[in-house]
Amino acid sequence: MSQDKVSASPNIVWHSHALDRKQREIMNGHPALVIWFTGLSGSGKSTLAGALEQALFSQGIKTYLLDGDNLRHGLCNDLGFSETDRRENIRRVGEVSKLMVDAGLVVLTAFISPNKTERQKIRELMEEGQFIEVHVDTPLKVCEARDPKGLYKKARAGELLNFTGIDAAYEAPEQPDVYLDGLQPVESSIEKLLFILKNYGILPAYTQ
Ligand code: ADX
Repeated sequence: MSQDKVSASPNIVWHSHALDRKQREIMNGHPALVIWFTGLSGSGKSTLAGALEQALFSQGIKTYLLDGDNLRHGLCNDLGFSETDRRENIRRVGEVSKLMVDAGLVVLTAFISPNKTERQKIRELMEEGQFIEVHVDTPLKVCEARDPKGLYKKARAGELLNFTGIDAAYEAPEQPDVYLDGLQPVESSIEKLLFILKNYGILPAYTQ
């Protein structure tokens, strides 16, 4: 593998180590990839990603869930919600996801990731078939009524700026790999996801 992107540290050389992703995938018994949930705040991304992770984990799949709110407590705690900061947030998540895929994991991510171009960049960062974009499509009205953190209320009152869906844009995927109607029960969305994931070789047992 080579890295030929321009960076702030030009005098670096990519080192290929003896163990690679393929070997880890064989040891784990399944391919490594990213299941990327995108949707409005309150759309159900975290809930669905969490439920899917449990379902996969219980079948012996090596998983890890990266959650927007959680990463902003640590790795991304220097970032806000301007367009530039969101791009950087998603870039970091993409790079972390790539490392985790290299480590042989099935990575689930739950970020609003409102920008089409940034999501496309992550698809391009991965190999063919390693990026599964899942659109959790829940109408703004419903997200706003759920308002689990009271943030829509603050945004409507003008106390919170750049809130996605209110005064910041959300660019919905035109052709997501998986479309989920956010009004459907969690169980039926998980069933749909598990069915589709069979096409990616995760379930049942992976054979090379
Ligand atoms: S993203 O736009 O950069 O992808 P991310 O998924 O990390 O967002 O974080 C979204 C979460 O941050 C929301 O679920 C919400 O709880 C919280 N949040 C705080 N301020 C905002 C805002 N201005 N816009 C959207 N979400 C916000």
